Amino acid sequence: MGHLSPNPSIRQGDSVRRLLLPSRVVWWLLPAAVAVVGCSGPFPQSTLHPASDFGTAIDSLYRTIFWFAVGVFVIVEGLLIVILIRFRARPGGEAKHVHGSTVLEIAWTLAPAVVLVFIAVPTMQTIFDVGGAPPEDALEVEVVGHQWWWEFRYPQLGITTANELHVARGRPVALSMTSADVIHSFWVPKLGGKRDVNPGRNTRIVFTPDSADTYLGQCAEFCGESHANMRFRVVVDEPDVFDQWSRAQAVAPAPVESLGDLARQGAEAFARIRQPGNHSCVACHAIEGVSFGVLGPNLTHVAGRTTLAAGILPNTTEGLTRWLRNPPGEKPGSLMPDIDLSDQEIAALVAYLQGLE
Ligand code: CUA
Repeated sequence: MGHLSPNPSIRQGDSVRRLLLPSRVVWWLLPAAVAVVGCSGPFPQSTLHPASDFGTAIDSLYRTIFWFAVGVFVIVEGLLIVILIRFRARPGGEAKHVHGSTVLEIAWTLAPAVVLVFIAVPTMQTIFDVGGAPPEDALEVEVVGHQWWWEFRYPQLGITTANELHVARGRPVALSMTSADVIHSFWVPKLGGKRDVNPGRNTRIVFTPDSADTYLGQCAEFCGESHANMRFRVVVDEPDVFDQWSRAQAVAPAPVESLGDLARQGAEAFARIRQPGNHSCVACHAIEGVSFGVLGPNLTHVAGRTTLAAGILPNTTEGLTRWLRNPPGEKPGSLMPDIDLSDQEIAALVAYLQGLE
């Protein structure tokens, strides 16, 4: 045939086969899908393994909407494939031009509206479910976000602690949250949230943890230099363990006189006013029966925590020594300055702080 014959590469059988065979794109997407499946692993900050009623509510909302989305995907892609095959270019065929179809236009306006209703109803329901008033027996905790650490106060128990929030399994927790400086965001992926923590107003989270474990949290709103170092832990204890913990927290630590020599030197160093700049530990930190500073974390029972400096260092001799030697070196922008402590002073302070159980 002459040069006017149809291009042999778009023969009918060929084009159908090309449509149905996986293209190169599919071969690239397959490993990506396998990688995404990896997100369901046992990761400490995965929202896919909720451990509270709040977390479970968010997770089931997510799953509900996911299956709606799967339905929409199958219908849309199915129609697309049918149309591609049915109306593909045929040799000698000519497209039929259509202008305006009231039925179709109403249909494709209504269909997305229906999809939105299916998403909006369970979403609103979940918002109301997790936003209700806390029950009477809830454990109240006032959360204060600071650059860059978390303060936890228990008004019912007379406890103030930092960076490690203890709660009891099965008991509702009512967090009332505010900020001492800029906007932060409280987020423990496995327990639900996240919620902004704003200066000058209170936001609330109510949840009931359902399994005893330690859950990692993280400030989730950019709040300055050490935003990424503003971590925390929620320790969900069995109820009797929580009672023991809260009783121990509510009493003052052992008196200085009962401590060893080195720890006593540490207590003196803690109280000493330093020149120049008047930096001293007591100005910023509270220790029950010793000092009343409120700028930094309360240290009454600091030895009972597992981490230091909002979760960035282990609470060990080495971690404490590193922190005291140069706080801004460990946590850029830290409000706690490097106050030029001597090695002897650091060793004494470590001994003292480790006695505060
Ligand atoms: Cu606090 Cu980011």
